[in-house]
Amino acid sequence: MAIKNVMVIGAGQMGSGIAQVCAQSGYTVFLNDLSADQIERGLKGIKKNLGRAVEKGKLEADAMEETLSRISASTSLEDAAEVDLVIEAAVENIAVKADIFRKLDKIAPAHAILATNTSSLPITEIAAETDRPEKVIGMHFMNPVPVMKLVEIIRGLATADEVYKEIEEMTRVLNKVPVEVNDFPGFVSNRILMPMINEAIYTLYEGVASKEAIDDVMKLGMNHPMGPLTLADFIGLDTCLYIMETLYEGFGDSKYRPCPLLRKYVKAGWLGKKSGRGFYEYQ
Ligand code: NAI
Repeated sequence: MAIKNVMVIGAGQMGSGIAQVCAQSGYTVFLNDLSADQIERGLKGIKKNLGRAVEKGKLEADAMEETLSRISASTSLEDAAEVDLVIEAAVENIAVKADIFRKLDKIAPAHAILATNTSSLPITEIAAETDRPEKVIGMHFMNPVPVMKLVEIIRGLATADEVYKEIEEMTRVLNKVPVEVNDFPGFVSNRILMPMINEAIYTLYEGVASKEAIDDVMKLGMNHPMGPLTLADFIGLDTCLYIMETLYEGFGDSKYRPCPLLRKYVKAGWLGKKSGRGFYEYQ
């Protein structure tokens, strides 16, 4: 099966990036979200990114128009009836994802692969919501999608080899590097990254140092491109909390307990860059 038509669910920071790279590689894309406003925001972000690439001479103006013409807005999951692949990038919440996959299983053609960009939730559990668990797979892009090379590809317990190979091949077409991972909480990326971010939040919470000092230590001392608190703001503090809860529940180990300060910020609606305030403030 050749993948030609793709639906991306969720027009937030990840979904719009995924839609952009798929369209740039020649796939036609439905960008789906709950409201037309959210999709409009996502499309605006894509136009801004591509416009910047044109200004820098990295992209032809024609290629930008062609890319944009391949993306259609969709507020109905019924549009999945026309696609070969769905990449779900809605919020990191198992109930939301389970509901989407149950619906997609009824709408998408029998040959269609259903992928999720989840950061940490069990692929096997999401797959079990469908009658096609062999066609369900994790396709975990990194943020910002147009820039980052890695796609962690996660095999659920029932994922078929052909499906894995198809997604691995598509990842290369997107000019990204696939890495194969099995289905355990947080996979590889967030099992290692998120406890570090959580520990950085504990370090702030316990008054060991200021937020700037914590970020400086990791940037200048460990050569990280950005400090962990800045990175948490970029990822989204709600997403960070969801991931820590998944690790905590999945392993039953107290070393994964989310920091109370992280919970407090999320309750306050301080979600990081996307809400204008997290550990830092944004315009
Ligand atoms: P976001 O909050 O920017 O966007 C989520 C979007 O999903 C919103 O536009 C929301 O309206 C939409 N949505 C919610 N429920 C929906 C539904 N039932 N149907 C259609 N759309 C729905 O979140 P973000 O950061 O884009 O994350 C999305 C997914 O990607 C999550 O599963 C997250 O864990 C994962 N992810 C996030 C990364 C990050 O750095 N933020 C990195 C890699 C994966």
